[in-house]
Amino acid sequence: MPDNKNIKIGVFDSGLGGLTVLKHFLKKLPQYDYLYLGDTARLPYGGHSQAVIYRYTQEAVDFLFSKGCQLIILACNTASAQALHRLQQEYLPTKYPDRRILGVIIPLSEKVANRKKIGVIGTRATISSGAYEQEIKKVNPKAQIFHNSAPLLVPLIEEGLAGKDVTNKILKKYLRPLKQEKINTLILGCTHYPFLLKDVQRLMGKNCDVFDPGKIIGDSLDDYLKRHPEFKSSNKKTGKRNFYLTDQPENFIRLGEHFLGEKINNWETISL
Ligand code: DGL
Repeated sequence: MPDNKNIKIGVFDSGLGGLTVLKHFLKKLPQYDYLYLGDTARLPYGGHSQAVIYRYTQEAVDFLFSKGCQLIILACNTASAQALHRLQQEYLPTKYPDRRILGVIIPLSEKVANRKKIGVIGTRATISSGAYEQEIKKVNPKAQIFHNSAPLLVPLIEEGLAGKDVTNKILKKYLRPLKQEKINTLILGCTHYPFLLKDVQRLMGKNCDVFDPGKIIGDSLDDYLKRHPEFKSSNKKTGKRNFYLTDQPENFIRLGEHFLGEKINNWETISL
């Protein structure tokens, strides 16, 4: 294991959605260095096959490890659903036995599992994987789970159209079947959807709790790091953040700065 200085945590998403997770890491665990990778050239992942999502995610993981990350969080639900298990079981043990990759589906599932009627929205690949259903049922076999894929939301959010009428109309259509089932909890099963959090909450009404996934994932990472002293960071807060994108950065930076509420200075365009 690496020594206790400057632990670098990689955060991976297909695009800017992972910032909804990074924001909570920065707040809760500012003593770590963060390297964010957004595969903006190949987004959206959500309509691809498992083989393609696995290949893209493995390339992302190789890149972040090559930059010195000791731990990677697959903030992307689609990558967590379609690639994480295989990476953990087959790839890490042979290629990077002393590094770790974590996903987002288990902490989110565990948080809501004891609720009765749970809705999940996500990309086609996340919903068709059945990953949320599987993880929730491990904790609570009696939970009732309803889901819907929402493939148009990611492109709309990446275009900066969160909060606009066009997005709200489509969002309403995706939420309708879940509302009809009278779910009392909704999982935003895609990193991009917290950009729509207020609209989702308004459309679902007060009888449905919509959690902010970034907060839950931040708490879960904090807990993981406490249980794994090998990742203890030195007390010196370097606060380094590096952003790597696979396509032109303008949109990412404009929307990202607005969302994070801070400047994104250290960015680079790379190829995987
Ligand atoms: N942000 C990703 C997720 O959490 C998916 C977006 C995409 O389709 O690339 O699922």
